[in-house]
Amino acid sequence: MQPDKLFSPFTINQLTLKNRIGVAPMTRMSSKADSVPREDVLEFLIRRARKGAAIVYTEAIVTDYESAQGYPGQARLLTQRQIDAWRPVVSAIQKEGAVAVMQMFHCGRMAWPEVNPAGRVIAPSPITPEQENPLTGQPYPVPDEMSRFDIAHVIEGFVETTLGAVEAGFDGIEIHGAHGYLICNFLSAYSNQRTDGYGGSVENRFRFAHEVIQAVRKVVPEDRLLTFRISNWGVADPHVSLFETKDEYQHIIKLLDREPIDAISVSTHGYSDKAFGTRQNMAQLTRAVTKLPLMICGKIYDRASADEALENADIVLSAKSILLNPDWVEDVKAGKELRLYASAEANVAYTDEPLL
Ligand SMILES: Cc1cc2nc3c(=O)[nH]c(=O)nc-3n(C[C@H](O)[C@H](O)[C@H](O)COP(=O)(O)O)c2cc1C
Repeated sequence: MQPDKLFSPFTINQLTLKNRIGVAPMTRMSSKADSVPREDVLEFLIRRARKGAAIVYTEAIVTDYESAQGYPGQARLLTQRQIDAWRPVVSAIQKEGAVAVMQMFHCGRMAWPEVNPAGRVIAPSPITPEQENPLTGQPYPVPDEMSRFDIAHVIEGFVETTLGAVEAGFDGIEIHGAHGYLICNFLSAYSNQRTDGYGGSVENRFRFAHEVIQAVRKVVPEDRLLTFRISNWGVADPHVSLFETKDEYQHIIKLLDREPIDAISVSTHGYSDKAFGTRQNMAQLTRAVTKLPLMICGKIYDRASADEALENADIVLSAKSILLNPDWVEDVKAGKELRLYASAEANVAYTDEPLL
């Protein structure tokens, strides 16, 4: 590996990142009824750009007013008020020399009907996670199996949210296909037992992701990025391997490789964890079957872990370290001794406390 890969530029599509470090998408649940995040939550993103991150992801923005929302206080990017709220944030991130990317998702079977205006929960199949919803202390409600109408309506939400992000000036858009939310619900046989063209074979389970990507790409200008996030784990039943084998996972990556996307972002419990009983980690398994730019995330917390993670990827994303340590990029550059944060420490992200 080149000696200072971490602080060397990297070009994706037509955008050059000044280094290989990014702010991972982080939901903050701070929005009020207008679905616009709190001022200090937006400021936080600008400060992380000022403090050296080359690429800044937004929290996951929900794609419609019907069934997409899974947590209270989530953001949308559909109305003029929402677009106008993000525009100055995006341009401030860009002025700091960073690239701004909007992540969007539909929560699928993880949705919480009480926070959705239409009170619906929809998913590929009427199957719930085994565990309870930690926010409600109740079982997740059984979702409605998505009809053709639901599929078309949800795709429209992804397209409209993309149009909102493009109007707000974002450099890129990310489709969140990870963590047990809707797109992931389709990809994994754990949550998809459909018998139509959207279920069964890997190609069929990939069809919904394909349709979302194709519809979204049509409205993402050529010079902006379209990235896709994937994981082998979900936030509910986190011990479950969502893809049964290495071959199944790599088959999906090969299908993604054929899509008009600019990068794949792989989210892991730990970047160095070996996957699917092999001696390879998720980045290695991904890289083996695609030449697309690759982002890796999960327990990257200091210079040594960042350098090691970059051996098999192009960009490292940090969530907890960059959330809790505003000087993280500089500290990594200086080779400071840093510690791994526990998940519970990140819960401050969901309080009213402004983060530095
Ligand atoms: C407060 C918080 C909110 C998160 N919200 C999102 C999200 O909106 N979208 C997403 O893809 N991942 C989300 N994640 C997962 C992170 O992006 C990341 O994949 C995970 O925390 C592992 O990285 P880390 O070890 O650097 O924390 C969130 C994580 C945290 C700590």
